[in-house]
Amino acid sequence: MSLNADPAFWAAANTHLTRYGPDFESIIVERAEGSFVYDADDRAILDFTSGQMSAVLGHTHPDIVATVDRQMRSVAHLFSGMLSRPVVDLASRLAALAPGLDRVQLLTTGAESNEAAIRMAKLVTGGHEIVAFAQSWHGMTGAAASATYSAGRKGYGPAAAGSFVIPAPNSYRPRFTHPDGSNDWQAELDDAFRLIDNQSTGNLAAFIAEPILSSGGILELPPGYLAALKRKCEERGMLLILDEAQTGVARTGDMFAFQRDGVTPDILTLSKTLGAGLPLAAVMTTAAIEEKAHERGFLFYTTHVSDPLPAAVGVTVLDVVERDRLVAQAVARGQRLKSGLMSLQQKYECVGDVRGRGLLLGLEIVTDRQTKAPGFELGAKVMEEAMHRGLSMNIVKLPGMGGVFRIAPPLTVSDAEIDLGLEIMSDAIDAALGTH
Ligand SMILES: Cc1ncc(COP(=O)(O)O)c(C=O)c1O
Repeated sequence: MSLNADPAFWAAANTHLTRYGPDFESIIVERAEGSFVYDADDRAILDFTSGQMSAVLGHTHPDIVATVDRQMRSVAHLFSGMLSRPVVDLASRLAALAPGLDRVQLLTTGAESNEAAIRMAKLVTGGHEIVAFAQSWHGMTGAAASATYSAGRKGYGPAAAGSFVIPAPNSYRPRFTHPDGSNDWQAELDDAFRLIDNQSTGNLAAFIAEPILSSGGILELPPGYLAALKRKCEERGMLLILDEAQTGVARTGDMFAFQRDGVTPDILTLSKTLGAGLPLAAVMTTAAIEEKAHERGFLFYTTHVSDPLPAAVGVTVLDVVERDRLVAQAVARGQRLKSGLMSLQQKYECVGDVRGRGLLLGLEIVTDRQTKAPGFELGAKVMEEAMHRGLSMNIVKLPGMGGVFRIAPPLTVSDAEIDLGLEIMSDAIDAALGTH
């Protein structure tokens, strides 16, 4: 019998754990290393979601282990008004990587970083209306959840007053098209902002956006879109907040995804990838915005703000990214993975689209290439078959889209591991289609 079936473990889990989302996987994870997690039978499972899209250096990276050990022995946590060297080091390192965004606050989670960003935008603009994409995910807490539209909207009472939404551009399923059928995102954006102007009571504070909407099905903002969005914000006195929880820290083949577009946001939030799997987040902004916020008494005082342990981890993450040239590696390995996924698209009718950049890629499953009819059941089957064969992938199910696999291995993934993942994916699709 598989050790994953441990009756005492599952009896306790089923009795004592709150179910906070989709079903738990039916394995017990005992350890993890590099690109693999190992279950109770010591079976190696290739982790193509980098944990929860965070473990950019793979699991139990020796440099992170050494930093946690060293920092834990000196100082881990402090009174929130006390400073330590790792905090100032990390703030300086981040500021050097994102010219113009000189002021940094270090926090814990993605949702929390977006709370801080939205709170600052409200204070600085004097407005309270927040616009986001209809396929967004910014977190599970108050303001972040009010700006999250891809899931979890219903059943929790009112969202914040002044929560508005526009559609994210989708090149595979465009709503507005040029005569040649390609996505006319500018027309869509203009139309959307006409509706925002109709709804606004004159208190617009910010637009919050992911450069690649990940939980929204790997929707990439096309080149030029961010610049156009920034103009829309400037015309209305709104701030542009970019949430790079998933896209930051080399994941997309740039240090930050916004760098491809040459558009610096007013506020940048980083989380997941910054701590490479440990809870660390940062809110970065310009000196001018921070000055104004401070003048108005900005308060975002938390238990774990400026904690030295996660900050030291963040410094090590940046060191390893630089030393091991992981930005370039995300480009190279990303190309290998994307071309492999495109071969799958050629081989299988059910692979409708392959998209994304660097090592944040999406593969959309449809039941019909022509009509692009969503293939949720087939996608779920592929996911199950992949897991069965030792590959963990995550599928996003949203209305109006097929099942979309979010494929984001650690940036340290090897060519051989990418090839192994592609081989398992191919076998899993064959099995799900019943051709094997
Ligand atoms: C883009 C983005 N922002 C924010 C969050 C929320 O982060 P956390 O779960 O750490 O609060 C997520 C989590 O999936 C995310 O993908």
